[in-house]
Amino acid sequence: MALDSNMVIPAHVALILDGNGRWAKKRGLPRTFGHKEGCVTVEKTVEIAARMGIKYLTVYGFSTENWKRSEEEVGALMQLFRYYMVLLLKIASANNVRVKMIGDRRRFAQDIIDGINRLEEETKDNTGLTFVIAVNYGGRDEIRRAAAKLAEDVKAGKEDITESVFASYLDTADIPDPDLLIRTSGELRLSNYLLWQLAYTELYVTDCLWPDFDEKELEKAIFQYNKRDRRFGGVK
Ligand code: IPE
Ligand code: IPE
Ligand code: MG
Repeated sequence: MALDSNMVIPAHVALILDGNGRWAKKRGLPRTFGHKEGCVTVEKTVEIAARMGIKYLTVYGFSTENWKRSEEEVGALMQLFRYYMVLLLKIASANNVRVKMIGDRRRFAQDIIDGINRLEEETKDNTGLTFVIAVNYGGRDEIRRAAAKLAEDVKAGKEDITESVFASYLDTADIPDPDLLIRTSGELRLSNYLLWQLAYTELYVTDCLWPDFDEKELEKAIFQYNKRDRRFGGVK
């Protein structure tokens, strides 16, 4: 099934890329092999999304809760992150992709922070897909940080706190809300992802494990998205 020209391509697709560990376990491999394969799938998905004309792709790379995992697994994820940031710079440049990270980067090692800053700086003028990576990201933590910043401005005299004013304090300030959320591996939960931004997003869950996700799976999700009737609380 290929997408026909009548299909509406969602402007912003958010992804919870889950199932790397299960993918590896099924093959009798350590969990970190699943993460490695999952990174390859991220690379491919960025290229596919850019080609399809998706404007924003946001992926959940590492949550504020993922620090609970073993030191070995967290260490392996950090190493992969280091390696893929270098590769991503090449992919982003080749595909006119702008990269942006959301989440609290201050908890990472300095070389990772430098890498993130460099990726954002060197791709900031690219005009194609905006690729957003959520790292050390938690929806509650993002809202807490936004509220703390806003409280300071209120003390200094800021008034009239509308929803759009509050949203401008979030990490996603310049990014429209996701139209479609895809979660792989079958779990029916948000796991602290984009809690504010997903208010009216269409949800799609597939049993496909993240390393097996491909263009066909993305097309299936977009096909389902096209069948949805988005009412935003109104009546049609
Ligand atoms: C998602 O895969 C990647 C991260 C959370 C970093 P998991 O590692 O959660 O894989 P499962 O859910 O254990 O299979
Ligand atoms: C969500 O997956 C976080 C990322 C994909 C980075 P988890 O595997 O951490 O979520 P839970 O533990 O199943 O809720
Ligand atoms: Mg998981």
